[in-house]
Amino acid sequence: MTSRPLALDSLCARLNPWLKERLRTDAEALAKVAVDESGLPPGRAGAVVFPKNTAEVARIAAEASALGIAVVPRGAGTGKSGAAMPQNGELVVDLSQMNRLLALMPHDQYAVVEPGLITGDFHQAVAEVGYFYPPDPGSWESCTLGGNIATNAGGPRAVKYGVTQRYVWGLQIVTMRGDVLRFGRRSIKGVAGLDLTSLLVGSEGTLGIITEATLHIVPAPEAVETAWFSFADLFAASRAGEALFAAGLVPRMMELLDQAALDTVRKVAPFRIPEPAGAALLIEMDGSPARATADLERAAEIILAAGASDSALAKNEKEREAMRRTRRLVSSALKEAYPFKMSDDIAVPRSQMVPLLEQAKAAGASTAHLVCAYGHLGDGNLHMNLLARSAEERQHAGPLRHRIVELAVSLGGTISGEHGLGLTKRELLPLEQTTSVIALQRQIKQVFDPQGLLNPGKVWPDV
Ligand code: LAC
Ligand code: ZN
Repeated sequence: MTSRPLALDSLCARLNPWLKERLRTDAEALAKVAVDESGLPPGRAGAVVFPKNTAEVARIAAEASALGIAVVPRGAGTGKSGAAMPQNGELVVDLSQMNRLLALMPHDQYAVVEPGLITGDFHQAVAEVGYFYPPDPGSWESCTLGGNIATNAGGPRAVKYGVTQRYVWGLQIVTMRGDVLRFGRRSIKGVAGLDLTSLLVGSEGTLGIITEATLHIVPAPEAVETAWFSFADLFAASRAGEALFAAGLVPRMMELLDQAALDTVRKVAPFRIPEPAGAALLIEMDGSPARATADLERAAEIILAAGASDSALAKNEKEREAMRRTRRLVSSALKEAYPFKMSDDIAVPRSQMVPLLEQAKAAGASTAHLVCAYGHLGDGNLHMNLLARSAEERQHAGPLRHRIVELAVSLGGTISGEHGLGLTKRELLPLEQTTSVIALQRQIKQVFDPQGLLNPGKVWPDV
């Protein structure tokens, strides 16, 4: 049995009378919150609490702060960078029970939500009134809106609709001292003061605990058309993607799967992937029924002229979803086949995608390491996976991973397009930002959390 430090015992003694079964210190509860989907070895939680409202979060933070206990806010644990993983016996504040839709105001184009609301449930509630919340991270069936906001999550529809940040109008947060702060707007316009909402979006739980969010919703497009295109290799697919934008078309989804991704996902795919195929593009167009159909037909002409060997048009929503789901399953299928794989989420300006793919694949070939590339080709955000079946293979891939991330930065891109830095990428931050820029961020962190108790050890490299 592990012994808990005295301060944590005191905190539990103070929280226990009112939280009761919503304060857990048993091994099962602690093990559950010690991991995420980063593939990192489990961390270590000291206790986990499940608050039901903002007042409870405020009291928990204030009590923890008074006793100097570090706190890790957490949603569904679907993150890919370790940002919601405790490391050294912290108190995990699991927000999954704060999952209400508080207001849905289609006429004003916003909704107010609690952080634990599942993204897919929100999609559905919004769709029922004819509206649309575009951000669609791959884990939307299980991830939470609070986690999406904390990581500024992206997804396939970002190519046309942008990432989470574009849809966060306002927030309510609890600071580590237990203060409840509300900022942002519920009107389409609002420019008063500094944009603290945007500062909090993507801050990975290091500045405040999000307890409520005002999210922008838009009228749902009437129609969506989806098609799957096969290519001899991923360079041909990537060039075809460029041709589409050059013709002035803006797809609402342009996803790439390379040969390794196709070979791995084929066994579990609900869509029958045409053979042979060295790469594939999944394309969606939306708008009025006439617009979506005309745009997809034009896209198919351009893509076939640019070298696609085959195309399949989804005939109904079931077939559309089978194609999308096939793409979404790539991540878990790769994980199953290569449990020690390393996965990144670099992004580059779209024009740099072909050079990125060429140089990354060449670097992989020169080290004899299997590199799988799939993801959001349309917005320049690719999941470069270094496939590994053992800890040794994973370790061997370390230098290659570094080279690929450096390559993305040298092409004008970023080390993280959508998953955040958490634990997995914080040491890479100096590749992209200067010491002064990182120091400025540490100062901002200090203002919000002078004791350094909120999600410590994440985002920024050790000094
Ligand atoms: C995806 C996740 C890994 O795009 O971001 O599948
Ligand atoms: Zn992704």
